[in-house]
Amino acid sequence: MPEAAHSNQFTSTPNTTAADNGTAGGNATSGTTSAEQPAPYGGQASAPAAPLRRIRTLDLIKAKAEGRRWAMLTSYDQYTAALFEQAGVEALLIGDSAANNVYGHATTLPVTVDELIPLARAVASATSRALIVADLPFGSYEISDEQAVATAVRFMKEAGVHAVKLEGGARMASRIKAITTAGIPVMAHIGFTPQAEHNLGGYKVQGRGAAGTALLDDARAVAEAGAFSVVMEMVPSGLAGQVTAELTIPTVGIGAGADCDAQVLVWQDMAGLRTGRAPRFVKRYADLHSVLTEAVGTYVEEVKSGVFPEPERSFD
Ligand code: KIV
Repeated sequence: MPEAAHSNQFTSTPNTTAADNGTAGGNATSGTTSAEQPAPYGGQASAPAAPLRRIRTLDLIKAKAEGRRWAMLTSYDQYTAALFEQAGVEALLIGDSAANNVYGHATTLPVTVDELIPLARAVASATSRALIVADLPFGSYEISDEQAVATAVRFMKEAGVHAVKLEGGARMASRIKAITTAGIPVMAHIGFTPQAEHNLGGYKVQGRGAAGTALLDDARAVAEAGAFSVVMEMVPSGLAGQVTAELTIPTVGIGAGADCDAQVLVWQDMAGLRTGRAPRFVKRYADLHSVLTEAVGTYVEEVKSGVFPEPERSFD
C-alpha cells in the first residue's frame, strides 16, 4: 500500500493515520499480531491515509451545490475498501452485485441480508474516511415500510454502514420516507434496476422517449421522499442531465452519461478482473485478470520446480 494517498476533495491531511488522529473505525493500523512475525495468511488492511473525519451525506450534497464531482465504487472486502479510500474514492457501495461478483450467482436476486452484512462490516471497519453505503437486497424491503426499516437498521447496527441503497422510484417513496424518518440516509436507485430485471424484460436502457416522463417522476419522488442521492442506471445522457439539473441531491450515474454529479462502477469491471463482454458503460482501467493469471502461473511453476520457497523464506 503506498504511503501517500491520492488526495480527494474532502481530505485535508492525507498522511495522518486513524491512530494518529483518534478517529473511530481506523482499526487497521497494523497487520502484526505478535512482536515476531506478521500474521501468516494476511491481516488487516494497512492504515487508510488520513481522514480527519468521515465524509457525510451532507458533504456530498454540498459538493453538488459547489459543482464538485465525486467517485463511488463497489467494494466487498477490507483490502479493496482501504485501497479505494486511499486512492481517493469518496463513497463505497457494498452492492447486491456481490451476488454476481462474490457469490457467483447469475443475477443479484439470490443474495441475502445475512450474506451482505459480513462484507459490509469488513468494508466499514477497514475505512475511516469514505461514506459506506450498503444495498438492501431483493426481498428485504419490498413487503412493507416496517420490513424496510428493520433491514436498514440491521445494516446500521451490525455492519456499521452509514447509509443504505434501495431500488425503485415512486413505488418506493414510502419506504424511503420510513427509513429516513428512522434516521438512516437512503440512496435511491432508478432507471434500470437489476432486482427487477425480469419485470423490465432484461438489461435495457430505461427512460427513452415517452418513458422519460416516468423516469423524471421517479427522480422527483425519491428526492421528495428524502433520499440524499439517487443512482441512475442505463438512462439516456440527456435525460440524466435534465434530472441532475433539476434535483438538489447528487445524481450518481452508471451508464447515465457525463452530466451526473458522481459515477459508480463495479470494481471488478473497472479493474478488469472480470473478463468477457462488459456492458457499454464499463471502462476498464486495468487488466487485473492478466496480472493475477501471470502471478499465479509463476507461483505454480515455482512450487512444482522447487524454486519456491527460497532459503530466505524458510526458517532454520
Ligand atoms: O449492486 C451494485 O453494484 C449497484 C451499482 C453498481 C449501482 O447497485
